[in-house]
Amino acid sequence: MKITAIKGFSDILPEEVGTWQKIEQKAREIFAVYNFAEIRIPILEKTELFSRSLGETTDIVEKEMYTFADHDAQGSLLTLRPEGTAGVVRAYIESEMFKIEAARKLYYMGPMFRRERPQKGRLRQFHQIGAEALGRGDPFIDAEILLLLSDFLEALDLQGSGLQLNSLGCADCRPPYRGRLLAFLKERQDLLCVNCRRRMERNPLRVLDCKETRCAEETRDAPSIIDSLCDACRNHFETVQRLLWQAAVPYDLSPRMVRGLDYYCRTTFEWTTDRLGSQSAIAAGGRYDGLVEDLGGPAIPGVGFALGIERLSMLLRMREADAPAGAAVYIVWVGAKARDWAFPLVHSLRRKGLRVEMEGETKSLKSQMRRADKLNASSVLIVGDDELDRGVVLLRDMANKQQEEIPLEKVEQALISRKAS
Ligand code: HAM
Repeated sequence: MKITAIKGFSDILPEEVGTWQKIEQKAREIFAVYNFAEIRIPILEKTELFSRSLGETTDIVEKEMYTFADHDAQGSLLTLRPEGTAGVVRAYIESEMFKIEAARKLYYMGPMFRRERPQKGRLRQFHQIGAEALGRGDPFIDAEILLLLSDFLEALDLQGSGLQLNSLGCADCRPPYRGRLLAFLKERQDLLCVNCRRRMERNPLRVLDCKETRCAEETRDAPSIIDSLCDACRNHFETVQRLLWQAAVPYDLSPRMVRGLDYYCRTTFEWTTDRLGSQSAIAAGGRYDGLVEDLGGPAIPGVGFALGIERLSMLLRMREADAPAGAAVYIVWVGAKARDWAFPLVHSLRRKGLRVEMEGETKSLKSQMRRADKLNASSVLIVGDDELDRGVVLLRDMANKQQEEIPLEKVEQALISRKAS
């Protein structure tokens, strides 16, 4: 019996690794420009790090963490990290980075683990690229994070993704809002789904995020958090929006957006796409001003985001599949003399940056032409021993099926100029 990978854990095969490397490299370039430094944190942490930071009643902590006993004398529990923010904040506190300079901009890349129900774009081991800006409470850094993300997505040429923006207020304005929302929900609780009724008291904001049509309809007129912000939170949020306007980054206000982690306050956001079905968030994040203190550090604010590499990679690969045929050249040869002539030509063309392919073993003309089609070649060079004797080869344009004879000494030039046009 063959052994298969664990459900929800997948290999990233060579065909896809190139896309991952492109994403990682672009991210590093943008992080460097924005002056973020890389941090590498452990994959395994003490369970309490996550239960305390993400929130005991969140889906992740309640049911999605991979937790196991360490078998030590204290009976410690360890957890495979479900996200990166908690670990980065722990490292920031533990290394006392803030003593040298409180304002730190850090980024990380790597695997995260959540025992969710696997589906397209949702895995149990997935990978994030994340950034955390610690030590700054001003709205300019929120905007900086959003502009960084926007620049990154633009650099990858990812059209069709949109920014959803919300503010969750602070310890002053959220409790009264929560109270008003709970009162509103209680009046309609019989009409809400079982799940919403269950979580209403503990976290009424989650009800706004319910995917049941009935719940969405019943809560359409629920009080909006954005209308309930205190002056400080409203000013902060308005500045973030003004900075986005200034930078021409479009966004939609999304007062019903509730993030699945408890540490957030003020600005929260998700970058979504309409091309990935229900798992539409490619990046998400927000401000977490109380987290450093909650984890035993000084009162230092923070804001950050994480994006899912699998989802980004899927989007990029879909776009590549949509793209018209590339500039690939396929060389079809008939006869050993033709093969020996073609091989150095392939090498020379590759060195000039052309994507070129040829067979090594003898195959029929027909089977080589089929392969050229499969590789989406835009030009096919047909080389036969007879043609070589005459000092010519045939160049076939795969788009319009036109064929022309080209003198041997002009072949390279002809292919290179086709690539340029
Ligand atoms: P999150 O919204 O839980 O936030 O995850 C961020 C991104 O990770 C999602 O938008 C998605 O692209 C990807 N992701 C999450 N779960 C999965 C999954 N099961 N399969 C595939 N991709 C997934 C956080 O993790 C926060 N730590 C973000 C943050 C950083 N907030 C502040 N700083």
